Amino acid sequence: MNNNASFLLTNKAARIIILQRIDLASPFLKKIRKLLGRYLFSTFITKYFLNPKDVAKNYYTTMSKEYETLKNYIFKTDQFFLSIGGGIGGLEAVINKNLKNKSFYFIERNFISKKVKYGWSKNNLEAYNNFNIQRSFLNSNDMSPKQYQLIDFDKDNFPEMKFDVVISLFSLDYHYDFNIYINYLKKVSTKNTRIIFDTIRADYFQTIFKNVKIISVDNSTVHKSKRIICREFI
Ligand SMILES: C[S@@+](CC[C@H](N)C(=O)[O-])C[C@H]1O[C@@H](n2cnc3c(N)ncnc32)[C@H](O)[C@@H]1O
Repeated sequence: MNNNASFLLTNKAARIIILQRIDLASPFLKKIRKLLGRYLFSTFITKYFLNPKDVAKNYYTTMSKEYETLKNYIFKTDQFFLSIGGGIGGLEAVINKNLKNKSFYFIERNFISKKVKYGWSKNNLEAYNNFNIQRSFLNSNDMSPKQYQLIDFDKDNFPEMKFDVVISLFSLDYHYDFNIYINYLKKVSTKNTRIIFDTIRADYFQTIFKNVKIISVDNSTVHKSKRIICREFI
């Protein structure tokens, strides 16, 4: 990995990235979040106390490391990528730098919750994204507008096609139940589609898919989640 490599991003994008990935906040900012609470952190602190250059570099490094965890399971011949809760799309921008000319479909939400919660939510009410900021981020980081579509989970029809790869890091079955998407994913996958996501209940997916493999374990968070790759619904 090139140590000077970074993303190009605006202050607004840096703020949204910190809400999506609290691990990228500096220890100082994390302390402030604990002291002042989540509401002030997401509405005020992230607006005025971030260094976008640092965030850009750290986000690039983190997304490049995430890419390393799954690059052996995506192939040059794969064309259609579905990202569920991909945030502003740093991982997909890295995939695009490595594989070129792929098509990306992002199902995300187009609002920022006032009180950011980082945990499991039965109601799935929380979200931290903004499609204008995401578009500008992707366009500035070598993804052509022709290569991607942003689909609003709350308003739009989902794309009805077969995907080669589905990726959802720290979103599907991490913040909300996999079952919200199960029928849709059955429709848009073939037996070769690889569905990659983070969960704390890897064993449960043995009852849903014919093939389930753990590809990495995250011991750094309280959740101790596992990243799994699943193939073929039973
Ligand atoms: C913790 S962030 C992870 C973002 C990104 N995958 C990453 O690893 O940086 C979770 C993301 O899931 C999105 N989200 C929440 N509910 C969703 C839903 N039902 N469908 C798609 N995305 C959702 C949020 O807006 C947020 O961007």
